[in-house]
Amino acid sequence: YGRSHQSQRLPYIKAIILGDSGVGKTSLMHQYVRGTFSTQYKATIGADFMKKVVKLDDRRVVDVSCWDTAGQERFQSLGVAFYRGADCCILCFDVTNARSFENLESWRDEFLIQVGPRDPESFPFVVVGNKIDVEGRRAVSQKRAMEWCAAKGNIPYFETSAKKDINVDEAFRTVVMNAMDQE
Ligand code: GTP
Ligand code: MG
Repeated sequence: YGRSHQSQRLPYIKAIILGDSGVGKTSLMHQYVRGTFSTQYKATIGADFMKKVVKLDDRRVVDVSCWDTAGQERFQSLGVAFYRGADCCILCFDVTNARSFENLESWRDEFLIQVGPRDPESFPFVVVGNKIDVEGRRAVSQKRAMEWCAAKGNIPYFETSAKKDINVDEAFRTVVMNAMDQE
């Protein structure tokens, strides 16, 4: 009993959140870590990070650091530096914005170039189609998103709402679990 619980080093997972500007990356992180949502938009510059201690199951507790990067082109170059050492990646798009879905490919490719994992096909990604609470403006069907994920090595797909707190925890939990299994 010599050591306090806090002094034991927990397994550590670095998660990177990527996607076009405005898809809701910062909102997803805030919902996941703090359980809060704001309708205000404030562009992320470079990158930002938040930490969360997550209980995966009865035996495993993990220290997750979420790195929220900039979607806006002019702030992106700063963000790339933070990709290094990533254990997993959350690729985000907005289900009401087809362009943001089409751009997932280049977000993924650029990430893999920067991080250079040994086996890119089995790197832990998750795809998040966000803003499902917005009614009547669907631009990307669930089927289309799932087909893309299947073609990219069976990436898990989640439809989320950072606003209504739908599936946010599930998406992060899945990618963190998969990252732990790779360790
Ligand atoms: P950049 O920092 O520029 O890359 O943008 P971002 O991807 O971080 O987007 P952000 O989280 O700032 O959200 C952009 C806007 O979308 C904000 O006004 C949010 O309130 C709104 N938003 C985010 N998620 C949701 C959602 O699930 N539903 C709805 N209705 N709005 C959302
Ligand atoms: Mg942001």
